[in-house]
Amino acid sequence: MPQKKLFAALSLLSLLSIPAFAIPVTVNEHVIIAPQCLIKNSHGDYTLLASQPGFALITVNSSGIEQLIEAKHQAEHGNPCGGFVDVTHAWQSTHFTAKNASQFLQNYLQPAKSLMQNKASYSIRYPQQVKQIFDTLNPQAMWNNLTTLTNFNDRYANSDNGVRAANWLQTQVATMAKDFHRDDVTVYTVATGSYYKQPSVVVKFGNSSEPGVVIGGHMDTLSSTFSKKPGADDDGSGTVTVLETARAILSSNMHFKRPIYFIWYAAEEEGLVGSGHVVTDFKKKNIPVHAVMQLDMTGYAYKNQPDIWLIKDYVNKDLTGYLEQLINTYVKQPVKYTQCGYACSDHASWTQGGFVSAMPSESAFENSNHSIHTSQDTMEKLSLTHMTDYVKLAVAFAIELAEPVV
Ligand code: BES
Ligand code: ZN
Repeated sequence: MPQKKLFAALSLLSLLSIPAFAIPVTVNEHVIIAPQCLIKNSHGDYTLLASQPGFALITVNSSGIEQLIEAKHQAEHGNPCGGFVDVTHAWQSTHFTAKNASQFLQNYLQPAKSLMQNKASYSIRYPQQVKQIFDTLNPQAMWNNLTTLTNFNDRYANSDNGVRAANWLQTQVATMAKDFHRDDVTVYTVATGSYYKQPSVVVKFGNSSEPGVVIGGHMDTLSSTFSKKPGADDDGSGTVTVLETARAILSSNMHFKRPIYFIWYAAEEEGLVGSGHVVTDFKKKNIPVHAVMQLDMTGYAYKNQPDIWLIKDYVNKDLTGYLEQLINTYVKQPVKYTQCGYACSDHASWTQGGFVSAMPSESAFENSNHSIHTSQDTMEKLSLTHMTDYVKLAVAFAIELAEPVV
């Protein structure tokens, strides 16, 4: 039976109008927003801070995180129940207290009011440049990179392997920049709070201070304590899709009006933690962002169908419509729409932060790769052709939105 510690003292305190106090969140504690169904099925301890129909704000320790992940995994085979988001950082940086925890939850669940969503006019203007890059794409390089990534036992955000994977990505890009004599490439990392040791890796290409074009995916997997986690599709596929997009663009002779950011997020599987910190870092540094694309699972083509799917929830509608236009123009595959039904990947961190983001996906959500999060998420289930179509989409996105300059 799960032991549930209710914060009864809180209501008592508010009745007595004793001043609010901050919930002490120690290094080992995480503040989480989770669907009620997930909490109900989780066997871990938690402390309830606030609840709303469907969702609750709770604190758990690290074993509680593992329990939530396990509950989610069980739900995947029965009644699907959405994922959870780790909001420790947001909670701490906004200095909310137990007394106004429900306000925090309400703010978070409100559809993100976008500050920068003044309707951009999207158009197709650089077909010649996009096609020039298409001619240089190297699917074999992508496959080799995926082999390297899946050969780590895991890329768990709190394991040495997770850190090694981040270092490997950093070295790949630094080497490319050097090989292609690019002196306007900056590679840096963003720490994933105090609990996770894997940092996110950010590559900035170009020196202009115009709003940036962001293309990213998460590099982490779950932990390999019980079984290996090759994470070929989730999200090795997105990781190498971003890497090949970066390689192709850096190897060209093009420069752009806007900077392009290539990002590999840490700790997505632990509740969008790395991307949460990256978005906070962009905000802290006042870095403007024009548009964001998330690539999470690009390798599995259900029944070998070539369709490109677009996620409809936690994204910007206009930007998603623009992806459809880019696919019709450049990738020339059927476009279909699907939804996760919850904040299923890092695009949601950007949307939550008020940025314009979109996410293409390998298949309809219900027909996506069912081997993810297991030792069976391996390369032979994936289609290199399908993955290459997502590289084309990302290249077209980068070039049309960053705009080449002569
Ligand atoms: N790659 C998945 C999300 C996904 C699944 C996208 C199927 C498209 C199709 C992602 O890594 C993941 O596992 N997300 C979690 C939620 C996260 C906030 C912990 C999930 O889906 O449960
Ligand atoms: Zn996953």
